[in-house]
Amino acid sequence: MKILVTGGTGFIGRWVVKRLLQDGHQVWVVDNLANSSIDNLNEFSNHKNLVSIKIMDVRDKEFLQYIFNEVDFDLCYHLAASINVQDSIDDPETTFTNDTVATFYLLEECRKKNVKIVLMSTCMVYDRASDERGIDESSPTKPASPYAGAKIGAENMVLSYYFAYGLPAVVVRPFNTYGPFQKTGGEGGVVAIFIHNKLVGSSIKIYGDGTQTRDLLYVEDCADFVVEAGYSDKLHGEIVNAGTGNDISINALAELISENQVSIQHIPHIHPQSEIQKLLCHSGKAERILGWKPKISIEEGIKRTEAWIKETMAKKDEEDHE
Ligand SMILES: NC(=O)c1ccc[n+]([C@@H]2O[C@H](COP(=O)([O-])OP(=O)(O)OC[C@H]3O[C@@H](n4cnc5c(N)ncnc54)[C@H](O)[C@@H]3O)[C@@H](O)[C@H]2O)c1
Repeated sequence: MKILVTGGTGFIGRWVVKRLLQDGHQVWVVDNLANSSIDNLNEFSNHKNLVSIKIMDVRDKEFLQYIFNEVDFDLCYHLAASINVQDSIDDPETTFTNDTVATFYLLEECRKKNVKIVLMSTCMVYDRASDERGIDESSPTKPASPYAGAKIGAENMVLSYYFAYGLPAVVVRPFNTYGPFQKTGGEGGVVAIFIHNKLVGSSIKIYGDGTQTRDLLYVEDCADFVVEAGYSDKLHGEIVNAGTGNDISINALAELISENQVSIQHIPHIHPQSEIQKLLCHSGKAERILGWKPKISIEEGIKRTEAWIKETMAKKDEEDHE
């Protein structure tokens, strides 16, 4: 297939691109590099099926029209977005225009040429899990932050194009994802930040009391799920979750990563009102319809992530000394 991946140089996007190339598809990537580097695709730079990487903004309607006129895509994976809850509270306009308005522009192009779209939403749209069965697709949502609100808006627009125009469309809601290529600074994810702190010997800082839990999904499992949701024709007009079915408190995660090598500190939450206390996924639907199940345990995932961060730090050290 001819496949467009927006946000394809980002953390999850580059793994989605990798899987699509492995499966023999032709891939076009669009990203404005707002939170990523083109180096994330270095591994595939000579791949004959990575047709183009366009450094462009998905808020640019004319540009979207141009690429949809140029190529007859079969499928579009829409991952480009502002992803940070705190940033969305400080600057809701950027998140709303990136996550909701740009999704609408893209949908319009998909509608004109009947291109199937997979919208990358997030578990952050849900209200806290109320029991140990976890959150399934019928669990209540809650726009606790403009990030969640913008994603819920985008989801509803995508689903409306299925109902109103019959556009093949799927909304995927992966739970918190971690692994190699995730940023280790403030804009990264909790696992990458904690591992980085351990490796540089600084303390691990936890917002709030650390009893909040996350269902942490390894990035290759996440990418497999996203890609397979796009391949299936049984999910049109549907929302589907992916997570491991196990949640871990941030306190326990910090202990698992620090291995007593660095101290753990609790600091006041910047935006406690937007924290989701318990995020635990029920992925029965993905398993039933796609036959998808996560393969990588949290221990193995942390090991792989730590190895990658170590390697990246060593490379940077070498470059700095050259
Ligand atoms: N990381 C997670 O835990 C997680 C979990 C569930 C869903 N998601 C979703 O997955 C997607 C990818 O997230 P990620 O973690 O890889 O983050 P990321 O920031 O690495 O990826 C997002 C990409 O979108 C690009 N982008 C942002 N605004 C753009 C614009 N206007 N035009 C073009 N490109 C733009 C960024 O440069 C970046 O490469 C996002 O939609 C996010 O909401 C992430």
